[in-house]
Amino acid sequence: MLEKRYEELINIINEADYNYHTLDKPTITDQEYDKYLRELYELEYAHPELKRDDSPTGRAGGKILEGFEKVTHKIPMLSLSNVFNESEIIAFDNRIKKEGITPKYVCELKIDGLSVSLQYEKGKFVRAATRGDGVTGEDITENVRTIKTVPLTLTEEVDIEVRGEIYMSKKVLEEINEVRKSEGKELLQNARNAAAGSVRQLDSKVAASRKLECWIYHLPNPEDYGITTHMEALEYMRHLGFRVNPNNKLVHNIDELLQYIEEKQETRDDLPYDIDGIVIKLNSLPDQKIMGYTAKYPRWATAYKFPAKVVLTKLIDIVFTVGRTGQITPNAVLEPVIIQGSTIRRATLHNEDYVISKDLRIGDIVSIRKAAEVIPEVVEAIKERRTGEEKPFEMIKFCPICHSPLMKKEGQVDYYCFNQGCDRRHIEGLIHFASRKAMNIDGLGDQIIEDFYNLGFIKRFTDFYKLYEHKKDLTELEGYGDKSINNLLDAIEESKHNSLERLIFALGIPNVGEKTAKLLAMKYDTLDNLINADFDELVAIPDIGGIIAKSIKDYFALSFNMDQVNGLKELGINMTYTGEKVEENENFSGKTFVITGTLVKYTRDEIEEKISLLGGKAAGSVSKKTSAVIVGENPGSKYDKAKELGIPIWSEDDFEKMLGE
Ligand code: IVH
Repeated sequence: MLEKRYEELINIINEADYNYHTLDKPTITDQEYDKYLRELYELEYAHPELKRDDSPTGRAGGKILEGFEKVTHKIPMLSLSNVFNESEIIAFDNRIKKEGITPKYVCELKIDGLSVSLQYEKGKFVRAATRGDGVTGEDITENVRTIKTVPLTLTEEVDIEVRGEIYMSKKVLEEINEVRKSEGKELLQNARNAAAGSVRQLDSKVAASRKLECWIYHLPNPEDYGITTHMEALEYMRHLGFRVNPNNKLVHNIDELLQYIEEKQETRDDLPYDIDGIVIKLNSLPDQKIMGYTAKYPRWATAYKFPAKVVLTKLIDIVFTVGRTGQITPNAVLEPVIIQGSTIRRATLHNEDYVISKDLRIGDIVSIRKAAEVIPEVVEAIKERRTGEEKPFEMIKFCPICHSPLMKKEGQVDYYCFNQGCDRRHIEGLIHFASRKAMNIDGLGDQIIEDFYNLGFIKRFTDFYKLYEHKKDLTELEGYGDKSINNLLDAIEESKHNSLERLIFALGIPNVGEKTAKLLAMKYDTLDNLINADFDELVAIPDIGGIIAKSIKDYFALSFNMDQVNGLKELGINMTYTGEKVEENENFSGKTFVITGTLVKYTRDEIEEKISLLGGKAAGSVSKKTSAVIVGENPGSKYDKAKELGIPIWSEDDFEKMLGE
């Protein structure tokens, strides 16, 4: 009897959740819902033996985890290649047609959230995992259980894995931020970060309060269910009780495809959630098989990314910052605007020439462009909106910190503060030394370094390694407990063992970036060897020109710098390269390569670094001197030029063969 009522209550609540959240069609009143839910809670309290793992009472959260278990995906969770314009979409379509396929596509909204894998056994929800690196993700079952649009029980008792996107609606983000603002807390920057942060909460009650939602769009093993098209897969998942986006559409040709994109691009702001593009998938599963996969992406699908959004706002002021090299940068201070969920308050204006060429005036209404994951940019001033009150831009003549006169280096557009004693330059240099890509000292944020500088604890690089002498002073500072001080001192100690390239980069030698530092570390093995290298030897290294070579020589010629280096050596900082060694390779040594298209196995930086480690050089444009062009997906005009000039064309696989790996 009790069992029967228990079952009944679970079914009523699950159905009500489904109707309300997934179908958006409530069937019972809130009061009725609460009444059933309360009855269920009471029954479980009185008869804990009845409680099922998939009970909707679990949606409230409550379990507190210590960390997230790892989950290995049976089928890797791949990402999608990107296309950015009509001609790249047409190229994608042509690649498919070239295989003899007459394509039909399913167009879907590209939801701006994070992907999730959901597993069910005999129709019951058992596990949810993040994508992670595609092979291994994290177990987020308890947090996902709180998402009302994720069914806990399916309409059939199947074993199944489905994938989709967890996201936060624009409205919920706004509500949460309103509360956070009133509590003086930092605001969540955009819906995607907010969703990602929420599923990684150890306390599932917090996740529950974030009111996340979920769309399901992928069935990784459709053949197990006798399904032959993606549309059928979507329909089957909808039938099982999953929330499948109603905007998905089957299109029969490229014209229909482009029309869908145009329509969605225009109306995207009307949606209650953020989308950042359109996903295009081949409908026929046998056709998908023909197209197959690269290491990272399916070849049967791609994502069209919407162009960066432009908004208008007011340029309130132009302020100047001083970098560690003394370089002065003008920055736009903007009336805060939100573009696709991120609040923009500042944008770099690079240098005086940049501001003058755009004729920006303080008080102007300006347009700001922001693409996903890209820093915001001031596009132009809207001249028609000028009132006459705007203040023309004036470059400063003196350092805003130490007031010494600013000057340009010969032939350059940037102004510099040349005062070696300028506090700001020192602070920036120290911040750079400790930063993630340099000595990577955890727990030393920009503000902390500035505070330690002002307190006199850290004035030069060697002082990091003597910070323990101030341990007592540190304990007296507000916000520092024994634990955080010990962690910090441990992290500093740890950084002594870094491989040489980090130290070379950390020194902040002008013009020596991360890549050059690595190249030098591999080539010279020890810092002493580098210090002793002469100019001719340095310029002979591919990718190191006269400017860099001179900069290195100048740096070590200064006794102030050599004192710091010797001090670091005495304090036990490792000065030897301990990373991977790559032998020079005759297929690359002294040769020039151009890369075009989207690579799937490497990022641009990775492949360029590899080439330079092998003794080659990466160039930006194709000429007769180019040794080979390495071609990824959707290659551009460089590919055509290479063909025209008869330059060898390598795929990524060819590249790897040449590596001899
Ligand atoms: S399909 C093999 N469909 O976009 C199929 N992904 O940039 C892989 N995304 O990792 C995914 N909406 O997190 C697919 N309708 C949709 C999507 C979608 C958003 C996300 C997903 C994926 C990323 C790729």
